[in-house]
Amino acid sequence: MASSPFLGIAASVAVLLASFFLLRFRFGFFTLYPPPPTTPRLFTAQELAFYNGTDDRLPVLLAILGSVFDVTKGKSHYGAGGGYNHFAGRDASRAFVSGNFTGDGLTDSLHGLSSTEVKSVVDWRDFYFKTYIYVGKLVGRYYDSQGNPTKNLKGAEAKAARGAQLMEKQKKEEAKLPSCNSRWSQDEGSEVWCDTGYPRLVQRPLEMAISGKLSKRCACFSEEQLGQPGLEVYQGCDYLAKVCRL
Ligand code: HEM
Repeated sequence: MASSPFLGIAASVAVLLASFFLLRFRFGFFTLYPPPPTTPRLFTAQELAFYNGTDDRLPVLLAILGSVFDVTKGKSHYGAGGGYNHFAGRDASRAFVSGNFTGDGLTDSLHGLSSTEVKSVVDWRDFYFKTYIYVGKLVGRYYDSQGNPTKNLKGAEAKAARGAQLMEKQKKEEAKLPSCNSRWSQDEGSEVWCDTGYPRLVQRPLEMAISGKLSKRCACFSEEQLGQPGLEVYQGCDYLAKVCRL
């Protein structure tokens, strides 16, 4: 048959082309990359670093508390040049509360954080479970080489649970004392006011205060309560003013 050599050549060319494109997509152009993750599996830190968004052909992955997520659909945040690219290809759990995206800030250590801060990291992990694809576990601080949770992970989760309880207690406490209203505008700046009562700055309990930023809050007190210890009049605000400019 006259056509069979041509058919043979055409078939070989087709197979060659198919393998070329398959290899190009799976392993990069000439460099061999690890294939993209499919079913949940274990990662080493070195492997995870491949998926830091620098290679457009690879998915973007990040880890938090040792759980690894495919965040490719959020490439605009996590890809090269994105505002949150520092989270890609690593576990920078601490930066989720510290906001320190440089050098030593990009660590998975939660050492020295308060229980409410650790709770906030766990909340971020929940966010990733809900929003992105879970692809596995990072072997290291939070999972051992068998993929079992380490003491560090159990410790962080227990601390977060204490943080959650503390926040709940605090919420109940604060509900007893109504918070001030507040607003901000370019022209007027910030102001606080009370629908009933008078605005005062009050110290939060110590446990909450050590969690950082929000150590004081504005609450409303009736005239009879104003003599209580620990109530601070806003600077520049009259003793019986209902609205205070900050
Ligand atoms: C501790 C500090 C902060 C951390 C850890 C943090 C973290 C993040 C992360 C991980 C995302 C991406 C969420 C996703 O996958 O959809 C995000 C989104 C965003 N963040 Fe932050 N953020 C911080 C502070 C801020 C601040 C101070 C601002 C504004 C002044 C801000 C504004 C935004 C906005 C606007 C988005 C959404 C962007 C969009 O959907 O296009 N963030 N943040």
